[in-house]
Amino acid sequence: MAYHSILFAASLVGSVLSHGFDRSPQAETGSVDYSQFVNPLIGSEGPIPGQAFGGGDIFVGGAVPFGVVKVGIDTYEQNLSLSTINGGYTPRGLVTGVSMMHESGTGGAPKYGIVSQMPLITIEAPVNILDNTTYWQNRTGNDTARVGYFSTRLENGVTISLSGARHSGIMQYQYPSGEKHVLVDVSHYLPAYGSYNSQSFLGGEIELQDDGRQYTGYGQYGGGFGEGAPMRVYFCGEFEEVPNQARTWRARNTDPYQRQHVFSNEPYGMPTYGNSSEQSGFLLDRVGAVFSWSNTSASNSVTSKVGISFISAEKACTFKDSEIRSWNINDTVQAAVDEWNNDVFSKVQVPLGTSQNQTNVILMYSSLYFMHLMPSDRTGENPLWQSEEPYWDDFYTAWDIFRNTVSLYHLLQPTYYEGMIRALIDIWRYEGYMPDGRSGNYNGLTQGGSNADNILADAYVKSLKGSINWTAGYQAMVKDAEVVPYNTFSILDLTGSVKEGRGALYDWIPLGYLSADGSARSLSRSVEYALNDFALYQVAQGEAPDDAQKYLNRSAQWQNNWSHNATSVNTTPSFTGFLAPRLQNGMFNLSDYNPALCGGCEWDSISYEATPFEYSFVVPHDLETLIDFMGGAAAFEGRLDYVFMPNTSQQNLGANGAGINTIINIGNEPDFATPYLYNYLNKQHKSVERSRALANQYYHNSNNGVPGNSDAGAINSWLIWQMLGIYPIVTQPVYLLESPWFSDINMTINNNATLRIVAHDLDNNDSHYVQSVKINGQVWNKNWFEHADIMVNGGTIEFFMGSNQTIWETGNVPPSPGHGGKPNANGTYAMAETIGVKKLRRRDLGF
Ligand SMILES: *[C@@H]1O[C@H](CO)[C@@H](O)[C@H](O)[C@H]1NC(C)=O
Ligand SMILES: *[C@@H]1O[C@H](CO)[C@@H](O)[C@H](O)[C@H]1NC(C)=O
Ligand SMILES: *[C@@H]1O[C@H](CO)[C@@H](O)[C@H](O)[C@H]1NC(C)=O
Ligand SMILES: *[C@@H]1O[C@H](CO)[C@@H](O)[C@H](O)[C@H]1NC(C)=O
Ligand SMILES: *[C@@H]1O[C@H](CO)[C@@H](O)[C@H](O)[C@H]1NC(C)=O
Ligand SMILES: *[C@@H]1O[C@H](CO)[C@@H](O)[C@H](O)[C@H]1NC(C)=O
Ligand SMILES: *[C@@H]1O[C@H](CO)[C@@H](O)[C@H](O)[C@H]1NC(C)=O
Ligand SMILES: *[C@@H]1O[C@H](CO)[C@@H](O)[C@H](O)[C@H]1NC(C)=O
Ligand SMILES: *[C@@H]1O[C@H](CO)[C@@H](O)[C@H](O)[C@H]1NC(C)=O
Ligand SMILES: *[C@@H]1O[C@H](CO)[C@@H](O)[C@H](O)[C@H]1NC(C)=O
Ligand SMILES: *[C@@H]1O[C@H](CO)[C@@H](O)[C@H](O)[C@H]1NC(C)=O
Ligand SMILES: *[C@@H]1O[C@H](CO)[C@@H](O)[C@H](O)[C@H]1NC(C)=O
Repeated sequence: MAYHSILFAASLVGSVLSHGFDRSPQAETGSVDYSQFVNPLIGSEGPIPGQAFGGGDIFVGGAVPFGVVKVGIDTYEQNLSLSTINGGYTPRGLVTGVSMMHESGTGGAPKYGIVSQMPLITIEAPVNILDNTTYWQNRTGNDTARVGYFSTRLENGVTISLSGARHSGIMQYQYPSGEKHVLVDVSHYLPAYGSYNSQSFLGGEIELQDDGRQYTGYGQYGGGFGEGAPMRVYFCGEFEEVPNQARTWRARNTDPYQRQHVFSNEPYGMPTYGNSSEQSGFLLDRVGAVFSWSNTSASNSVTSKVGISFISAEKACTFKDSEIRSWNINDTVQAAVDEWNNDVFSKVQVPLGTSQNQTNVILMYSSLYFMHLMPSDRTGENPLWQSEEPYWDDFYTAWDIFRNTVSLYHLLQPTYYEGMIRALIDIWRYEGYMPDGRSGNYNGLTQGGSNADNILADAYVKSLKGSINWTAGYQAMVKDAEVVPYNTFSILDLTGSVKEGRGALYDWIPLGYLSADGSARSLSRSVEYALNDFALYQVAQGEAPDDAQKYLNRSAQWQNNWSHNATSVNTTPSFTGFLAPRLQNGMFNLSDYNPALCGGCEWDSISYEATPFEYSFVVPHDLETLIDFMGGAAAFEGRLDYVFMPNTSQQNLGANGAGINTIINIGNEPDFATPYLYNYLNKQHKSVERSRALANQYYHNSNNGVPGNSDAGAINSWLIWQMLGIYPIVTQPVYLLESPWFSDINMTINNNATLRIVAHDLDNNDSHYVQSVKINGQVWNKNWFEHADIMVNGGTIEFFMGSNQTIWETGNVPPSPGHGGKPNANGTYAMAETIGVKKLRRRDLGF
């Protein structure tokens, strides 16, 4: 595919996207280089300039859509209290290496930052290759980041340029005159100092071939956010030029790992060198290699390719050789750009001319970029079992992406998405449960419900079929709904499993609610379990009709955690009726209860990462009952208005709060749908007003341009829906109509259909309220539509915009299909007693 634009001319300098480049005119499908509109640094910084803290935790580097390899620098910020290094990149952190695997946008403890190299200009004292503090590097000048390309300059004068393919990367180091070394430290990973779930290096091997031109081996790593089991990653590196000297090294591991043999409480010491291969052994010795080129060699640059594989070093070599055929880094960049344009960006076409608001164009394509970095397509790379099914990892986490990200995959990436779902089901088949979180081939952590259920239901109700075995899919969901997973006794939550499934089913099934004295996070998990059961109801209707009523009833059990007497504290006006802590004996405990507080919103709190005030709006399957419980339409509207008022937040959310002082926190997933709930009152114009205000306030084309962690692109997909002017209701084949940001959008959906979204008389500053809507030429009087209406064969949605905040919708409000459920709550003391005994036994096993 030929591109009209000049590639490589656009560079991001600091936080400013330079526009001094040739912008191609809008041309036929596929011939536009949309990648020029991507700012890969959005989210790289938090509110404190130069610090990652409170920012997006994004990955910055070379990657292809859903690629296994995300190659980029690993950094370390010296002020630990501000440090968040989950994506490897920080704006000004010290560079400790260049590594092949990263997550993007995640919170918690870092995962990956593995299979590394580090370019050095000396390896003599005071440098000790075992001690990264003796060689880590500040950066000078500004980093350059584009789709498929990253470059930075170290203080020692070395310039790093890199690009990534699907399982491999290419790195070029430009040295000042003098010695040139590349350190390969197999024991390198992104640490979480002082955290119980920091990663650990669990041994490895390295071997030199071809006079040190090639090196192969593997490293094993465990821990990290998901409390992961050991995983092994094979690597195969190759240098363009044979080094003058290549040595392997080995040294005692002095890191303090629990339940592993290491050499404790000792200084690093010095490495012992060899010349062919090293193995860690049971003491988990650190191993690596140093490659050196003399200062008389012809070139000042060292270029290398590295492939990785979860299967074998041979496979890693094959990836390196087949995916990166040339030593010109530009070729790999161009291939990545082509793939991004063809498979991602060209599927959403908006007007690009200079008369368009360029900020909005950049926000659209940058958001598409960030929502396609994770999960990782590891098909053919599953080391755990043999299967014909696709394999995916890095669901980090379903809790983040189930709410609207997957619904966008469904439209834009039906093939990839089918693969993800088949992989989720295959994980259940071979490991017993689908994951909520999964990375490093290991399920964990589960923050709320078993939200893979919602993903499956969302695909099912929209008739995603392909080769998905829905019989098995439903069985996997039933496992989540019926079988209490083994308690993991994580220090995060001693009450039940945080690995997979629903750790508090022991309350949910017999009591009909989650008890505050039996289960951590009882209120947030109550609404999530209810939605999970609704997801089962949706799939059961087709796959197991006899089960349907049971799960519909269970989907109403959030009502048993609802106290009609609970009242807000320190609010004007005052609101009555909230999710509230309920004891095993059936009584609500309302003494000192303030729904605007969550006690830290942590794993052991009554609600997770948001307050009960917020979670009390999160019942997407039954707004009808919810509105009724809140006192009817007017009271519901008043409460909704209140959560957007400044200075209403009573809970300090720390880094998760992104400086937000309203109860609504659009930087956090539970609240994603809340601004749109006015549609359920047929006051769509207020949904438009609220959601646009949040988008304008919290999303920017700048390094601090997203409200907190981008969460594997979930934060970004929220903005895409906002800009498209529609919002999906997860687990239902329903989309709400809102207000698009572009006068014309063509989307390629369902493989080859076209959805066109037209906004007549749109002016984003003034005329952005809907006056009327047509779908496929028909006047549409509802503020929502169904998947089958237009998302299967495509068609056109026409919005007629104006400045009036009009109640244009006269049809039915969006559906509440969970409304028929009859919750069973018996909450007897006898039942609670039984549960207590069971829990005691479980604890006796471990503590
Ligand atoms: C790679 O692309 C850059 C930017 O267009 C150009 O300056 C450089 O010369 C190219 N390098 C090679 C080796 O082609
Ligand atoms: C580290 O960050 C904290 C804010 O969390 C600040 O109070 C402190 O001064 C910083 N320390 C240094 C050395 O910059
Ligand atoms: C990096 O830069 C910071 C700020 O200028 C400085 O405090 C620190 O000592 C430097 N570290 C290294 C290893 O050069
Ligand atoms: C880095 O970017 C900033 C902001 O755009 C600019 O002021 C500065 O001159 C740049 N520095 C270099 C060395 O290019
Ligand atoms: C530096 O290396 C040590 C020893 O392997 C390791 O414990 C530590 O986590 C590393 N620090 C960084 C920032 O990578
Ligand atoms: C969308 O497609 C229509 C029909 O092909 C075309 O006229 C229009 O220019 C396209 N709009 C954009 C933004 O690409
Ligand atoms: C472009 O849109 C942004 C909101 O995304 C707005 O802040 C900005 O003012 C707009 N620019 C122009 C020139 O209208
Ligand atoms: C689908 O899954 C079911 C249940 O796990 C299994 O019995 C059946 O053989 C599968 N069908 C196919 C075609 O693989
Ligand atoms: C109470 O719940 C248990 C467990 O679901 C059930 O067996 C029992 O019949 C229920 N009792 C009433 C009165 O609903
Ligand atoms: C709510 O309060 C009323 C009296 O104000 C009381 O009769 C009722 O039992 C309470 N309900 C709950 C669920 O606490
Ligand atoms: C779209 O793709 C489907 C298969 O995914 C095929 O059956 C159909 O004929 C295609 N339609 C067009 C218009 O190309
Ligand atoms: C806007 O609404 C006002 C009254 O609500 C009405 O007088 C006016 O004509 C409307 N304007 C348009 C453009 O519809």
